[in-house]
Amino acid sequence: MSRGPGLPIVDGATPAPGSDPARVRADDAMVDGFGRRIEYLRISVTDKCNLRCVYCMPMEGLPWIPKAQLLSWEEIRDVVGEMAPMGLRRVRITGGEPLVRRDVDTLVRFLRDVPGIEDISLSTNAVLLADQADALADAGLDRVNVSLDSLRDDRMEAIARRSGVAARIRAGLEAAERVGFQPLKLNVVLMRGRNDDEIEDFARLTVDRPWHVRFIEVMPTGANLDVSRDEQLTCDEALERISAIDALEPVEGPTGNGPARYWRFPGAAGSIGVITPMSHTFCDRCNRMRLTADGQLRPCLFGDLQTDLRGPLRRGEDLRPLIERTLRIKPERHLLEQGTDAGSGGLAALSQTGG
Ligand code: 5AD
Ligand code: SF4
Repeated sequence: MSRGPGLPIVDGATPAPGSDPARVRADDAMVDGFGRRIEYLRISVTDKCNLRCVYCMPMEGLPWIPKAQLLSWEEIRDVVGEMAPMGLRRVRITGGEPLVRRDVDTLVRFLRDVPGIEDISLSTNAVLLADQADALADAGLDRVNVSLDSLRDDRMEAIARRSGVAARIRAGLEAAERVGFQPLKLNVVLMRGRNDDEIEDFARLTVDRPWHVRFIEVMPTGANLDVSRDEQLTCDEALERISAIDALEPVEGPTGNGPARYWRFPGAAGSIGVITPMSHTFCDRCNRMRLTADGQLRPCLFGDLQTDLRGPLRRGEDLRPLIERTLRIKPERHLLEQGTDAGSGGLAALSQTGG
């Protein structure tokens, strides 16, 4: 059976409730039943990680996807090659931690060769980035997003529940700057009592550095209900505190408009972004789908909707009708609610789908 651990497969051909199936297009543009244009694919290449962040992965890890079920680099290239003529323009490589899988630069090279793909980025915790930055840049990687929840070494390691990684993360960030990955985005998951006293420090970083610091509200998943319930902090609160430093002006995002909204201190080199899955819904601007490491195409971050591409791909079948079906079932919004994982569709952690 083609299923990721714990994730049920719903091949559902039934259109998303409230959608207009007549709006769905899958010719030279992928448009869903709500008229949203899908031009961005997040590609998870592994569900494993070398860290154990308190809001993500349990200490003991998770039931990993068996190796034989991981899409090969060639298979990922074939999926992207199918979607590019349908309007896919940007891809992001994620995990788990993508750099724990060997030879990610080979995948970057393959994706670089797909006509129509304009932007290739990678989300990483940066632990292995210093070792791989040159190879990734040579292969054509455009930029990276680095998850960084504290600027203090001891805290960073406490949140990641791995000692000795802070120096490597800092080396990873330096390497990202050295090889010219731009724009550099930092992702900070907000946790009351763990890193909220650093909100101002993170914001001040953007004055002199061309970094885009993005604050993210914790989303509840099966493995983080305690943190997501007890340590929730809204981005509004963060913005309020940051505004007390200096006036913020709204700006366009560094790479167009996804779910994040951006602000800037007057004259600052970088910007401050917020990603607000819990306090505001950003779903109306959704422009993406997700490919899990075992080849499930997911129309939404949460919920149990997905279409198996791995089986059909390995049988040599046409993927296009399956991509169309996924556009048809893409829901209007996620159903997450604070303090419960009821809307998460059985997800233990975002590392299972690529976040
Ligand atoms: N809520 C919010 N953000 C999360 N991430 C992982 N799990 C969660 C969660 N439950 C973030 C990581 C990283 C990005 C890939 O997703 O910190 O920045
Ligand atoms: Fe690993 Fe990212 Fe999850 Fe942290 S948030 S455990 S770095 S996958």
